[in-house]
Amino acid sequence: MRSFAVLLLLSLLLPASSAAEEDGARAFTPCRACHSLDPAERGLPGPNLSGLIGRAVGGAAEFDYSPVLRKAREDGLRWDAKRLETFLADPAAMFPGLWMSIRGIEDAAERQALVRFLEDPASR
Ligand code: HEC
Repeated sequence: MRSFAVLLLLSLLLPASSAAEEDGARAFTPCRACHSLDPAERGLPGPNLSGLIGRAVGGAAEFDYSPVLRKAREDGLRWDAKRLETFLADPAAMFPGLWMSIRGIEDAAERQALVRFLEDPASR
């Protein structure tokens, strides 16, 4: 009886975990108002985010960044998954004076799904 309950629980949980992958794309939806992942797209209010992971902070060549992100670039900071997740929890806490006024994403699972999506948007 107990193993039946475990199986039932698993069957309820498994579809939910693949849905978590789609959550990354969904979590990025509001960001699209200001950011594109298409390297050819210019002219949005925020910098292009294609190839973000591994790139320098403040690293979109054509974008005119705030002093705080220009300083981070001069200091040699790069985006990795860990830094991006911390940033998304509270962007202005990491870079005071940031010109991006969105609230942080409180939900850790949502942040992680969004980071995975930004690591490899094409696979989603
Ligand atoms: C209202 C417009 C707007 C929205 C919405 C927005 N951003 Fe931004 N974002 C910006 C601007 C403007 C900058 C540049 C900030 C600066 O220069 O201080 C930026 C910078 C960034 C950077 C740093 C990029 C780099 O090249 O170093 C990341 C990462 C980022 N945003 C991610 C996101 C994510 C993820 C979302 C959605 C959860 C989001 N942004 C929503 C406007 C926006």
